Amino acid sequence: MKAHIVTLPGDGVGPEVTAAAVTVLRAVAGHCQHEFTFEEHLLGGCAIDATGEPLPAVTLAACKKADAVLLGAVGGPKWSDPNAKVRPEQGLLGLRAALGVYANLRPLTVHLALAQLSPLKNEKLQGVDVLFVRELTGGAYFGAKTRTADTAADECKYTVAEVERVTRRAFELAQGRRRHLTSVDKANVLETSRLWRSTVTRIAADYPDVKLEHQLVDSMAMLLLTRPDSYDVVVTENLFGDILTDEAAALAGSLGLLPSASLGDGTRGLYEPIHGSAPDIAGQGVANPIGAILSAALLLRHSLGLAEEAAHVEAAVERVLRDGPRTCDLGGKAGTAKVCDAVLSAFAGRVSADAMYAEPVNSCCG
Ligand code: NAD
Ligand code: IPM
Ligand code: MN
Repeated sequence: MKAHIVTLPGDGVGPEVTAAAVTVLRAVAGHCQHEFTFEEHLLGGCAIDATGEPLPAVTLAACKKADAVLLGAVGGPKWSDPNAKVRPEQGLLGLRAALGVYANLRPLTVHLALAQLSPLKNEKLQGVDVLFVRELTGGAYFGAKTRTADTAADECKYTVAEVERVTRRAFELAQGRRRHLTSVDKANVLETSRLWRSTVTRIAADYPDVKLEHQLVDSMAMLLLTRPDSYDVVVTENLFGDILTDEAAALAGSLGLLPSASLGDGTRGLYEPIHGSAPDIAGQGVANPIGAILSAALLLRHSLGLAEEAAHVEAAVERVLRDGPRTCDLGGKAGTAKVCDAVLSAFAGRVSADAMYAEPVNSCCG
């Protein structure tokens, strides 16, 4: 198949991990006879430096024309002055809103080879497999912001339609998994959460095969640590989802491991690791590329319909996490490029074995 992919490497470690993910996508195209074209654009701090704007019009226009967008990370100390008029993060938020990608999928799997890196005891990590569905284009991130000398406010607003569309997506995803949906809110305090809860409860009637439970966000933060294996799909609002997924990443062993897919109604999506620009390690070639590479796998699956290829990339990553090499966040000594090379070798080994032994129709290269 042919696909046009826009890349937005961004700032800090963004370009380092994006380069690794693009290398993997090129290998997928080469091994599996696809034609992927790549077009790189500016977003975030680098865009502010070059154009004065965090989301230049040319970047947005290119993203709207692409089949998929692969993003590294934006932001960093250079652009973090609290009085700054423009910030890199505004570019990312503007892009998410403009692309209408309201459902942010953040899968958490715990690789037992990394269990010793998790703050939890090994036995708590058995069978942990959670798909977070974070609402991405509403809530406090997008409400009115006001500021006077001694007051600040961020309006948190949700409409029924906004809650409904992300909830339906979460129920549908749960139907393809273990049929258990946990909706996380703060309905004991927040009006937006009461709207959230009543909307989710009403919609549940359309998905009788999925077991729904509600959980308050403060206790959910605790339960994720005490019984993370009890969850299948977790749906929540924008800010809660941001916080809970960084917590979840710690269970996996590193923030550098988790990918994400941001989806709207069509097939075009925005794919990015959940970590930031990691200014403390940027420029050293040591960032963990796995979150970005797994984001590329999600891109193959969700935007290009290449589920086989995605599974091969994920299996290659799994093998590298088991056998090494590993970056320093995972206790290893390898750099970004070495880990990427290992994923490429594991991937090449898998697809050539597949081409020889599997049914051609099921094979990635069939
Ligand atoms: P961060 O995610 O950049 O880093 C937190 C910690 O995790 C750091 O110690 C960092 O070294 C480590 N880390 C992150 N990614 C890693 C990787 N791939 N490999 C190894 N270690 C990794 O969070 P922060 O320091 O709070 O934020 C830095 C900047 O990034 C801020 O400007 C923030 O707004 C931005 N940010 C951007 C995104 C994004 O673009 N999607 C996401 C989160 C934060
Ligand atoms: C993320 C990031 C962003 C968010 C920031 C950089 C705007 O933390 O993608 O998780 O809060 O959504
Ligand atoms: Mn975040």
